[in-house]
Amino acid sequence: MVQLLSLSLLATVASASFVSNLNYRSPSHYHPGLGVSIRKVAARNTPSAAWNSSQLNFTHGVASGDPYDTSVILWTRAAPVDSDNDKSNITVSGYVPLYSHETDQYVKASKAPICVSYKISTDAELKGCVDEGKAYTSSDIDYTVKVEARNLKPFTRYYYQFSICDSDNVSPVGRTKTTPSKGDVISSAVRLAIYSCSNFPFGFFNAYGNTARKDSVDYVIHLGDYIYEYANGYYGWGNSIGRIPLPDREIYTLYDYRKRLATYRTDLDLLLSHQQFPWIPVWDDHEVADNTWNAGSSELNNTEDSFVKDGGVSVDQRKMNAVRAYFEWMPIRQVEMDDNLRIWRSFEIGDLLDLIMLDTRQYDRSITDLYWNTDYIHTISNDAGRSLMGPRQESWFYNKLSESSKRGAAWRVIGNQIIFSRINQSFALGDENPLNYDAWDGYQSNKNRTLSHLYDNKINNTIFLAGDSHASWVSDLVWLDTHPYDPETGEGSIGVEFAGSAVSSPCPYGQNISLANANNYSSLLEGANRELQWQDLYYRGYYELSLDKDSANASYFGLPTIATRNGYEISLANFTVISGENRLKRTNGVVGGGLVESGSLKFGTMSGTNLTNDTATGAYFISSFTPDTA
Ligand SMILES: *[C@@H]1O[C@H](CO)[C@@H](O)[C@H](O)[C@H]1NC(C)=O
Ligand SMILES: *[C@@H]1O[C@H](CO)[C@@H](O)[C@H](O)[C@H]1NC(C)=O
Ligand SMILES: *[C@@H]1O[C@H](CO)[C@@H](O)[C@H](O)[C@H]1NC(C)=O
Ligand SMILES: *[C@@H]1O[C@H](CO)[C@@H](O)[C@H](O)[C@H]1NC(C)=O
Ligand SMILES: *[C@@H]1O[C@H](CO)[C@@H](O)[C@H](O)[C@H]1NC(C)=O
Ligand SMILES: *[C@@H]1O[C@H](CO)[C@@H](O)[C@H](O)[C@H]1NC(C)=O
Ligand SMILES: *[C@@H]1O[C@H](CO)[C@@H](O)[C@H](O)[C@H]1NC(C)=O
Ligand SMILES: *[C@@H]1O[C@H](CO)[C@@H](O)[C@H](O)[C@H]1NC(C)=O
Ligand SMILES: *[C@@H]1O[C@H](CO)[C@@H](O)[C@H](O)[C@H]1NC(C)=O
Ligand SMILES: *[C@@H]1O[C@H](CO)[C@@H](O)[C@H](O)[C@H]1NC(C)=O
Ligand SMILES: *[C@@H]1O[C@H](CO)[C@@H](O)[C@H](O)[C@H]1NC(C)=O
Ligand SMILES: *[C@@H]1O[C@H](CO)[C@@H](O)[C@H](O)[C@H]1NC(C)=O
Repeated sequence: MVQLLSLSLLATVASASFVSNLNYRSPSHYHPGLGVSIRKVAARNTPSAAWNSSQLNFTHGVASGDPYDTSVILWTRAAPVDSDNDKSNITVSGYVPLYSHETDQYVKASKAPICVSYKISTDAELKGCVDEGKAYTSSDIDYTVKVEARNLKPFTRYYYQFSICDSDNVSPVGRTKTTPSKGDVISSAVRLAIYSCSNFPFGFFNAYGNTARKDSVDYVIHLGDYIYEYANGYYGWGNSIGRIPLPDREIYTLYDYRKRLATYRTDLDLLLSHQQFPWIPVWDDHEVADNTWNAGSSELNNTEDSFVKDGGVSVDQRKMNAVRAYFEWMPIRQVEMDDNLRIWRSFEIGDLLDLIMLDTRQYDRSITDLYWNTDYIHTISNDAGRSLMGPRQESWFYNKLSESSKRGAAWRVIGNQIIFSRINQSFALGDENPLNYDAWDGYQSNKNRTLSHLYDNKINNTIFLAGDSHASWVSDLVWLDTHPYDPETGEGSIGVEFAGSAVSSPCPYGQNISLANANNYSSLLEGANRELQWQDLYYRGYYELSLDKDSANASYFGLPTIATRNGYEISLANFTVISGENRLKRTNGVVGGGLVESGSLKFGTMSGTNLTNDTATGAYFISSFTPDTA
């Protein structure tokens, strides 16, 4: 609470430029310790300690995110050349440990904050400036800069740039786009790219670059697992491709999370995507640790043993470190300061869609599958009290769905981490525990409440998005065993689910699985699950979702290889949802036009050119392969 006081006092008496860097604020009033005292930082702002602009650099490009109709978040990082990520804890001591290359040590130095200015314009040369400002940054917040550009026009493309104040040291020019206003009538399509599960030591983030190269979308959605917490050797083969995620160990401290995010942000395709598109991300588990829930994670039992194993960093402290670094590095808003680390939020995009971004993971999830307790989680998976979101987020979610339907938005798109549809894998996992209890299947009452809300209120045009699983799954959204459903016609369905593969994380049925084996498993999965219309395990990739008043169209893309940076991709499958039909469109009883490039399609055909291309090229172009229709 002390933090708040100093912040609001300063807003009236001191320079607005300190307040305008949102990263000094804590993401939550309930965790004032995550904020930084601006008064202490401002006190260091003495001319004698000032930086020479030639000593500074924009180390990680630019980014934008959480677009509204008249404002957008802009991000950059302005740091001393060669400086490491900041190693201090959040501290109000007035001292900032700085890294000295001469002594290879962290030294206590009171160094002035860095002044950064920004401007935003509708032209790429930034001549017609529509908003500008100044903000300070400092090592206290890892030299990150996050500002809100205002006074913008709805559904408009903008360009922006940062510079070190009063110098010609400038950042790259970024591009962004506002959303339409809530009431606007949208006659064109809104196009989204949907990503999840980008694991640095498993391969290059070509998937991010491809939508930038094609310039094919308006906004980028990330459903989480933007980073992974593991040591390289434990999960990944970074050594063989020159991608060691730093620090080279499992991450726990604030410095660790900052350094890990900074390493991921050296991938050129990730930088390209951030520079070109506004992002709307949510976290999943690995932004903190594997299989997190509201009070722990798979490797933390909240016991003394697990505490020592985790380097003496408690569950709560580790989560705070992860959350602080995430808010510093991601171009997102702090939606509601009065709620505890809230990241769930929504975007009203004209009369076309409401985008509802959930946090089924960190906010208030009941205990999940921690690997050693699977039998127990199975036993309680149908308990009425279990929730993925907690009561507050759940009621917000159901109200949002109703409000959105009442206001007449054509579509409800739900950005959610984990797979919603029931996936029975008894052929692989056995009959004891055939479901994934870390997904919605482990929280049946929460699933039932969602489905009954949709059915009871006749809410149409709902599309669930999902990541987390490292594979592609396309399903009608159905309440199995309660509502009749016909897999051939889709009759009885209340929406659709589009779940996407990973940017780089490996196939769940084997890291180096062959195409033939992967497709064999896909057909077993598809065969075992009535509502699952298409499944692919083999390809790393992403999908695009284009929505207009009449239909929603999903295009899935697979990456032939992520062992090198390249721009190849394969069109795997296309799906259409006609407005009002609440199910995947069938052509002669088959979805996806009856033909896909890989995986298994219910009642359909896999054309299969079975293409892989392992040649390093360095060339960037898109090659889509038309399926063999013969
Ligand atoms: C900043 O550094 C440059 C390069 O070292 C030097 O030429 C310039 O004089 C310095 N400016 C100031 C104000 O110290
Ligand atoms: C400044 O940052 C860019 C982007 O990370 C990098 O390519 C360049 O080498 C840096 N310049 C210096 C002087 O460190
Ligand atoms: C960070 O916090 C730990 C635990 O409170 C403390 O031991 C350590 O000295 C602090 N480090 C710095 C740089 O303040
Ligand atoms: C957590 O507890 C379970 C059950 O007692 C045990 O099997 C597992 O090894 C523990 N894990 C850790 C990280 O302590
Ligand atoms: C999973 O599939 C197996 C084999 O068809 C079946 O015996 C079992 O009842 C199914 N379990 C669930 C929870 O659907
Ligand atoms: C949820 O719905 C399923 C399918 O109808 C049913 O078997 C299950 O008992 C329900 N669980 C709860 C907690 O409502
Ligand atoms: C959903 O569609 C059905 C069938 O067209 C219609 O009866 C119902 O009123 C729609 N629901 C809403 C909330 O408009
Ligand atoms: C998969 O291939 C990579 C790269 O060749 C190798 O490092 C890794 O050990 C393989 N993984 C498995 C599980 O065989
Ligand atoms: C497909 O996988 C199943 C289960 O592992 C196995 O029994 C079967 O032989 C496989 N089929 C082919 C053609 O590989
Ligand atoms: C998907 O649609 C695009 C655009 O119409 C087309 O080029 C591509 O071949 C289609 N892919 C498949 C697998 O049908
Ligand atoms: C692709 O693989 C499938 C089996 O997975 C096989 O039936 C088909 O002949 C292959 N196609 C080509 C062009 O190699
Ligand atoms: C595979 O890589 C080679 C070498 O760069 C390239 O010429 C070729 O077009 C690629 N083929 C496909 C089908 O992607």
